[in-house]
Amino acid sequence: MAGRIPQSFIDDLLSRVNVLDIVEARVKLKRTGKNYSGLCPFHKEKSPSFTVNNEKQFYYCFGCGAGGNSLSFLMEHDRLSFPEAVEELAKLAGVEMPKADGPVDHQREQRIKDIYALLEEASNFYQQQLREHPHKAVAVNYLKDRGLTGQFAARFGIGYAPPGWDNILKKLAKDEATKVRLEQAGMLIKKEDSDRYYDRFRERIMFPIRDMRGRVIAFGGRVLGDEKPKYLNSPETDTFHKSRELYGLYEARKFNQSLDRLIIVEGYMDVVGLAQYGIGYAVATLGTATTAQHLERLLKMVPEVIFCFDGDAAGRKAAKRALDTTMPVITDGKQARFLFLPEGEDPDSLVRKEGCEKFEQRLSESLPLSDFFFKTLEDGADMLSLDGRAQFSNEALPLIDQMQPGILKQMMQEKISELTGLSLEQLVSVNNLQETTVSHSHAPSPDYAYEAPNYQDDGYFEQPEYTSYEPQSFSKNKKPFKDFAKGNKKPRPAPPGGSAVHFNPSSTAVSILLHLPSLASQCSNLEMLASSDDSAEILLYQLATYLQEHPGVTPGILAVDWQEHEHLKPLIRQLNEIAHQTPIIDSTNTQQVLSDCLNRLQERHLDREILRLKSQGHLSTEDKQRLNQLIMQQAGSRLRKAPEK
Ligand code: UTP
Ligand code: MN
Repeated sequence: MAGRIPQSFIDDLLSRVNVLDIVEARVKLKRTGKNYSGLCPFHKEKSPSFTVNNEKQFYYCFGCGAGGNSLSFLMEHDRLSFPEAVEELAKLAGVEMPKADGPVDHQREQRIKDIYALLEEASNFYQQQLREHPHKAVAVNYLKDRGLTGQFAARFGIGYAPPGWDNILKKLAKDEATKVRLEQAGMLIKKEDSDRYYDRFRERIMFPIRDMRGRVIAFGGRVLGDEKPKYLNSPETDTFHKSRELYGLYEARKFNQSLDRLIIVEGYMDVVGLAQYGIGYAVATLGTATTAQHLERLLKMVPEVIFCFDGDAAGRKAAKRALDTTMPVITDGKQARFLFLPEGEDPDSLVRKEGCEKFEQRLSESLPLSDFFFKTLEDGADMLSLDGRAQFSNEALPLIDQMQPGILKQMMQEKISELTGLSLEQLVSVNNLQETTVSHSHAPSPDYAYEAPNYQDDGYFEQPEYTSYEPQSFSKNKKPFKDFAKGNKKPRPAPPGGSAVHFNPSSTAVSILLHLPSLASQCSNLEMLASSDDSAEILLYQLATYLQEHPGVTPGILAVDWQEHEHLKPLIRQLNEIAHQTPIIDSTNTQQVLSDCLNRLQERHLDREILRLKSQGHLSTEDKQRLNQLIMQQAGSRLRKAPEK
């Protein structure tokens, strides 16, 4: 449907459908009070933080922040465009789509519809030829020689375009108009200076390229011998945009219960070969380099993508290019890795030689983005000379600068600082980067640096690992991020002023409560935080109080509930950020850490109050009494803190 869809229609539509019905058809939900919760379909998680509020007609995931109404759910979950989602809803509600109030390109709409139908027919025809054509043996034997079973040929809808210039023409082009359509679909080519058409694909193995909904949108065709070109692809058409589409994505989603990573390979046969050998989660770009669009699409579906490259010079060049594309796209909680294959092998040949297990082993040993990044840059730099290091940082920092703000970026900046021996501030001035793009983890703000040397022991204040700040610890084979420093033998010096991450007691406590809500019962004396001018402290106060009043509530329900309260709503975003950015404490003394955080907050509050009272010129008797009381409290807490001998 082209043209604008009237808003009134959309509003009416939304009032007719039930978000719960839409979601429940796709996600397993459990009723909890007036809400429903389940495992979020938009990110990987073990405990449910996805909630549907039927009364308010929206869903929300506390873990990843996804949220919206029926329409946005369909768009996100079924990967539909806005008009497609509206159409889908209209179908469900049994209402007619309205005449659009903008100019509707009916012709274009009809053309695209026709093209989809013709491509589907063509695909069926090619598959039928693989079964029935008199020369089918050539094609079947070719596929068998490549180790492909009928089952997997069927899974990918692989077919055979027989020899001849007019097979499709005869089969599908009933009239002139259809010939034109078939040309628009990329299936026929019009002879120059004549009205004659001929088949684009002749005597080739045919790979249908499908979109997310499984519709055939284009083809790739491989010769059966050594002729050139080896592969022929459909041209760009109304239905096929190479820079967006990925071969095998539909099949990967269809044949995997849950996907926690995707491999990006070069070729059709790599995707098919890997699937045949048990690795059904590879996708291929279609004769182009991976684009940011491709990546964004994949990273919405899975937390991890692994690029596969040949081990030769061309592969390394392609990898460098992929790295450049990935840097601005990658966000915390997502991971890109780089796998280099032995020279002369591609994924298809290698998996056939080595089998699934060995190949997966290689995947698990692939380089995380940061490893690859530093390896590439260090390879070309003389890290022993000052000039070399300056050059290195000159090259590296602008690239890192393009990254989205987050822990990964911060860690990469710090790594540069470590490698060059320059502080981030020095690097900033050297490179004239904007202040704001560099996180000041080396220069803690006076009030907020949380020095807690006694926590160093439990690993809590070590450099965070990928696994530790994602609630969804997803990949079984994931290597911790801190491996990136492996090549660098000297131990990482502790950054001055505390940890690499901006910890402060309030957000640490919030993080703990998020993951162990039952500990809220142990939070007392938080009232002082209620009037704090620090938002994280207010958040901690609200969260603890809420959890005390609603024991057993899941974060998803909390988020839905808070949506309804004007004073709490603004806190959800911050809560979300902390959930994603602060490491979950993975140690046995979480309670201790929490209580230390609370004590620390209390002390700070005492200090501030005392300072405030002391700085007042005149104190009433009441104030004096209070001051005395506070000073006593302060002394008491210092005594408790003194190390036992
Ligand atoms: P390769 O030449 O690496 O082929 O092309 P391959 O995938 O190993 O193919 P097999 O194993 O010999 O069958 C990788 C990808 O580059 C695109 C195709 O998408 C192909 O899958 N390509 C290659 C073309 O589009 N045209 C060509 O002529 C060659
Ligand atoms: Mn190959």
